[in-house]
Amino acid sequence: MRRIGMLTSGGDCQALNATMRGVAKVLYNQIPDVEILGFKEGYKGLISSDYRKMKPEDFSGILTIGGTILGSSRQPFKKMRVIEEDGLDKVAAMKETYKKLDLECLIVLGGNGSQKTANLLSEEGLHIISLPKTIDNDIWGTDMTFGFQSAVDIATQAIDCIHTTASSHGRVFIVEIMGHKVGWLTLHAGIASGADVILIPEIPYRMEFILDALKRRQKSGKHFSILAVAEGAVSAEDMLLSRKERKKRRDMMGFPSVSYEIGHEIEKATGQEVRITVPGHTQRGGAPDAYDRFISSRLGAKAGQMVVAKEYGRMAAFDGFKIISVPLKEAAGRLKCVDPEDDTIKEAKAMGICFGDE
Ligand code: F6P
Repeated sequence: MRRIGMLTSGGDCQALNATMRGVAKVLYNQIPDVEILGFKEGYKGLISSDYRKMKPEDFSGILTIGGTILGSSRQPFKKMRVIEEDGLDKVAAMKETYKKLDLECLIVLGGNGSQKTANLLSEEGLHIISLPKTIDNDIWGTDMTFGFQSAVDIATQAIDCIHTTASSHGRVFIVEIMGHKVGWLTLHAGIASGADVILIPEIPYRMEFILDALKRRQKSGKHFSILAVAEGAVSAEDMLLSRKERKKRRDMMGFPSVSYEIGHEIEKATGQEVRITVPGHTQRGGAPDAYDRFISSRLGAKAGQMVVAKEYGRMAAFDGFKIISVPLKEAAGRLKCVDPEDDTIKEAKAMGICFGDE
């Protein structure tokens, strides 16, 4: 009997089930005596030994279903080694569960924080195979994460819907896009939806350039404008402050997020009506799109093949269109940011999209 553990950790996204299905199909097809144990709510289930024995039927019919059949939770990496009031040694507990259940390896589907914990467990001697999950697309070592494409679709649709109202009313609309510390989602959805201004954390903005871009549109007879603003967008002035200081300053001014501050500045400077839309967690919800189903099936299948080959301590990844695996210790803890010099940015600027830096 080869017993394999599986868990989904951190914020959910659209293709978690599709990815697990890919893994399971390979395992059931290629290992005659395999048993899969699914841990509930991510590392929480591994810590408390809360799991269920999965059957092949559990992985059937889930290709198109969002969320995760195992449940998920955020267990911050920085607290993994901290013994809190309950006196629980979380790392020891996870190792104990793994040993007690006689697992051959553990498959972790997770984002950046979860990859760090996966690497920690790998360094503690557990056999780990990980899969890059996140709508943010910010995991180092892979050109693409699953969840990203579906979120791009939703953010794009949100901006598309705003477009018609912005045009009817001649208003400025700001759509705030998720992405945490990086701008992949905003960049892709912004270009796909024809946003006039795209603001991402990797390119600090100056209000004067945004206002110039809005003026240029007015002058050319376009009485509405759409700004796609990443939740982590930051002004050149605010770059001098720490994240905490930035938040404190914004809180004091009564702005719930960067978009509200930018909106206020635009109204003050132009007198134009500004509206803010925050699609929020809708970007992580619903069914995975076709492309996400395709790439998550490939990533899942790769992880399954890695189990068969006993290729541990590694993360399945995309190198262009090729599936590879990279060492977990290299991928974990490194953020993949948008390169401001990337051709995508140059092409967008050539089309007249303002990034707030010129
Ligand atoms: O990492 C995915 C993500 O959706 C980020 O884009 C966002 O900043 C964060 O998670 C939101 O986290 P939560 O669901 O815990 O509010």
